[in-house]
Amino acid sequence: MDDETRKEAKAWLEFYQELGIEGFYRREPGTVGKPPSLEVAQPAAAPPPKQVVSPAPARAASSPAPPKPVVPPTPPAAVIRPPAPTFSLFEAAPAPRSGPETLEQIRQDLGDCRRCKLAPTRKTIVFGEGNPHAKLVFIGEGPGADEDEQGLPFVGRAGKLLNRMMQTVDLKREDVYICNIVKCRPPGNRTPEKDEVDSCSPFLYRQIEAIKPRLICCLGAPAVRTVLGIKEGITKIRGQFYDFGSTKALATVHPAYVLRNPREEKILREDFEKIRDFLKSS
Ligand code: URA
Repeated sequence: MDDETRKEAKAWLEFYQELGIEGFYRREPGTVGKPPSLEVAQPAAAPPPKQVVSPAPARAASSPAPPKPVVPPTPPAAVIRPPAPTFSLFEAAPAPRSGPETLEQIRQDLGDCRRCKLAPTRKTIVFGEGNPHAKLVFIGEGPGADEDEQGLPFVGRAGKLLNRMMQTVDLKREDVYICNIVKCRPPGNRTPEKDEVDSCSPFLYRQIEAIKPRLICCLGAPAVRTVLGIKEGITKIRGQFYDFGSTKALATVHPAYVLRNPREEKILREDFEKIRDFLKSS
C-alpha cells in the first residue's frame, strides 16, 4: 500500500471509530455481496411438533383431498380413536356403476390389467380370495412368488403363518377375505411403489366397499400407510383400532416380519386375540 492510500485508509478508520465502529475484517475474495454465514449465530432450530396422524381412508389419486390430519388430544394408552371422517368409506372410491357392486363385477373391470409397471413381470393377477360377505378382511402388501404362481393371496410361507394365527383364535380361512394393496407381484418382492399403489388401490377400496366388513386388518407398514395413511413405524402403532369410515381397522405386523423375527410371534398372536375379541363383541 502506498503512503497516499495508507493516509486515506487511516482517515477512514478514524472516521468509523468516531462513529463507534471498531471491528474490521478482510473479506475473502468472491464473498462480496454474500450474506455472512448464519450458522454460528443461529439458535438451533426447534424440532417440528410431533404430529399424530389421524387416519382417514386413503383415496384414489383422482379423488378429492382427504381431510387434514389433526393432532388429537393425548390418546388413551392402547386405543386411538381419532374423530371419524365426515365422509363415508363407501364414498371414498366411487365405482363406475351406481348401486352396490359385486366382487365379480370388480374383477371383470380389472380385466387383464396393464395399468401399472408391474404388469409386464407378473404371471398372475392375485385379486383376492375368501368370503364375499366376510366380517374380517386381511390386507397384505403384494403377492410373492407362490401367490404369483397360483393366483391366490398368502399361500406361501407367510400365508401358512397367517393360517396358523387364524387357527389360534378359531378363525377359518374360508370365513375371511384376504387381499393385498397391489394385485401383481413386485419384482424381487420389493415394496410396491407409490404409482403402483395409486393405480391398484381403487380396486381394493371397491372390494372393501362390496364386502362391507366389520374389521380390516392391515398386515405390515405398507398396508397401514396405504389404507390408513399412517406413516409411523408399525411396531409403534400395531395392536390399535382405528376408524376407517364406518368400519374399524387394526394395524399389525406382517407375517413375513415374524418369519424373520420369530420372537415377535407373540405380538402377532396378541393382535389376533384382539381381532377375536372385537369380532365377538361387535
Ligand atoms: N405377502 C403379502 O403381503 N401378500 C401375499 O399375498 C403374500 C405374501
